[in-house]
Amino acid sequence: MNTGKKQVERVRILIASSHPLFAEGLRSLLVKRREPEASVVGIVSTIEEAIAALRTLNPDLIIVDYDDDRVNRDEFLARFVEGEGRLRVVLLSLKEGGSEAIVYDRRSMAASQIEDWLETWGGSETITHEISIPVEESLPRSEVSKRRDNMRHFIAAGLVVIGLMVLLILGNQRIALLPIAASRQAVPIDNLFRLQFMVIIFLFSLIVGLMIYSVIFFRRKAGDETDGPHIEGSSTLEVAWTIVPLGIVLAIAVIGSQALGRTLAADPKPLRVNVIGSQWAWRFEYPELGILSTEMILPVDKQALLILSSTDVIHSFWVPEFRVKQDALPGDAFERQLRITPDEVGEYKLRCAELCGRQHYSMESPVKVLSQEEFDAWVQANAPPPPGSEGEGANPPVGRGDKLTQQFACRSCHSVDGSALVGPTWKGLYGTEEQLANGTAILVDDAYLYESIRDPGVKITAGFQDLMPHTIAKDMTDEQIADVIEFIKSVK
Ligand code: CUA
Repeated sequence: MNTGKKQVERVRILIASSHPLFAEGLRSLLVKRREPEASVVGIVSTIEEAIAALRTLNPDLIIVDYDDDRVNRDEFLARFVEGEGRLRVVLLSLKEGGSEAIVYDRRSMAASQIEDWLETWGGSETITHEISIPVEESLPRSEVSKRRDNMRHFIAAGLVVIGLMVLLILGNQRIALLPIAASRQAVPIDNLFRLQFMVIIFLFSLIVGLMIYSVIFFRRKAGDETDGPHIEGSSTLEVAWTIVPLGIVLAIAVIGSQALGRTLAADPKPLRVNVIGSQWAWRFEYPELGILSTEMILPVDKQALLILSSTDVIHSFWVPEFRVKQDALPGDAFERQLRITPDEVGEYKLRCAELCGRQHYSMESPVKVLSQEEFDAWVQANAPPPPGSEGEGANPPVGRGDKLTQQFACRSCHSVDGSALVGPTWKGLYGTEEQLANGTAILVDDAYLYESIRDPGVKITAGFQDLMPHTIAKDMTDEQIADVIEFIKSVK
């Protein structure tokens, strides 16, 4: 659409001077007098920067500080006036005199002169840009040596990056970041860990290596007040640093889901173990073997299918050597599974990895991986006796109760030696008068103990809190509770 008004053609001016006062003074003068017809697009201090600015800033006019001996005015003249012949160059001096240059004396320079310049330099005519960008063969000597310098810096910085990478890889191999891997599920997880460490080491070395190199070799020289070269964006670089990380993240996502699939792979006949977390102990049921235990015993090279649950709050099953980890949640509907195929005989430790209350830190259980023969022997020794063969020992109910209190981890909170733990000690408890938190007293008899096991929150002993899992006895029969009471009676 023709607006009827001729569009103003802006003169793009580049100032070549290493004196900020000269350059900024001229800039503000031009801006004040000639905006919007003229604009200062940049300030450079060498011919190399001026050549670079030709590509990025596209100036119509270069004003060269004639008095700046760091600026090689002859070279400017040769390059831009005699050489290419298309770009307008003005050499501006604050002193009087001067030979080949068009010289203005600022002391006598009137504001109108600036208008004259712009008139003369193309403020009113359309300026065509036909400046040929220097090509390698015709580069002046200084440009060639600068390229060579750049290449040297690239190679040296590259060596720093590679050196840093090698150091980090060697260091990473020397320190054991992870404990030994003791299960088949650990293999894909460790592979993924290693891959990610390599990616991280590469990126760290690239960034920090270049940074260290630049800090050392591109320090500002004393007294140098000039600006750095003006660098416009690079689409190639921006596309590359978007696509490459995206590709890395997607690749890790694919490898990660494959690793997850491998940790979940099911063997046809795993050993089932119910793992029950309670504040603050673990217990293990082997439903196929009829065994209850407070230690986790597993045969080597056989997959264990763990069914995780909790009697109270959220706990988390974690044996670092097995790598895999899973929460144990309260409520029958929230059973979680975990598959572990131990492949190293040894003793490990199960920790709770979910903050679950005051004694969370001590919620640990031994984990023993045994050879198949040792495991069979353990099963033999711990399997329930066949019906009818019970009754050996001096007092069978006390013996059974003793075992039950260990299997249900009662004794991680109740001592049998008089020491106060989370709950009252059982030593000499039976038959005494117990002070309750509500101020009353009660005789410790069978009925009180039965109620306190089935429904621990009803009567709280003075000095203790309502911390016993309310559903701890949900898996106990009345006969088992009777055995437990017989055992408590026996602790004198
Ligand atoms: Cu259970 Cu922390």
